[in-house]
Amino acid sequence: MIKKSFDFCLKYEVIWGFYKKGNEYLVFTKSKLIPFMFELFCDCLKKKAKVLDLGCGNGVHVTEQLVKQGFDVTAIDISEKMIHLAKKNVPGAKFIQISMEDIEFKNKFDGIVSSFSIHLLNERDFKITAGKIANALKCGGFFLLFLDENNHKNITYSKTYLKKIFANQGMEFLRIEKETFSTKENQKHSILLCLLQKQ
Ligand SMILES: C[S@@+](CC[C@H](N)C(=O)[O-])C[C@H]1O[C@@H](n2cnc3c(N)ncnc32)[C@H](O)[C@@H]1O
Repeated sequence: MIKKSFDFCLKYEVIWGFYKKGNEYLVFTKSKLIPFMFELFCDCLKKKAKVLDLGCGNGVHVTEQLVKQGFDVTAIDISEKMIHLAKKNVPGAKFIQISMEDIEFKNKFDGIVSSFSIHLLNERDFKITAGKIANALKCGGFFLLFLDENNHKNITYSKTYLKKIFANQGMEFLRIEKETFSTKENQKHSILLCLLQKQ
């Protein structure tokens, strides 16, 4: 069941449209570390591994790449519109419209990715989702996390903060990287890229 309001989805779709125009969010074209961390994550997984993509958006940045690697991909998003677009863009994946803090998978996935999605949650839902991610992963499974250092609710994610949240869920950080970009307006925009493993 979708808990979040329709307003939220609409607001998000407006932000997503903005990203697509490339006015603000150029991380996928500018980043050198996103491809590096993505490859590291893929190298940790076996052929045909079961992978969950949390907050898949239109599927073109991550879901499609996961399918191309030959993984068995399930992708979720809160937005009906994003799921509709992603189904068209990535026919090889399974899609579910659900909010990520509501997922109820148990020891099912070898890998989970959250690419610029979990940071959109409030602090409470972020912590709930961290628990759901740990539950959904098999022991030894990997979690690839990309997030903005500052989210849209003015939360700053420090490495220490993230380590504390995920350590409470039995997840160990294998690698954390930070990359900073300058926006057109000459403001600094930092992203964190993390690879974790369930113990
Ligand atoms: C910046 S986009 C990232 C899309 C994709 N992961 C990528 O990297 O290209 C964030 C996505 O998270 C989704 N999202 C936001 N809150 C969510 C939630 N609570 N549960 C599931 N998806 C959510 C949005 O609808 C949007 O499609």
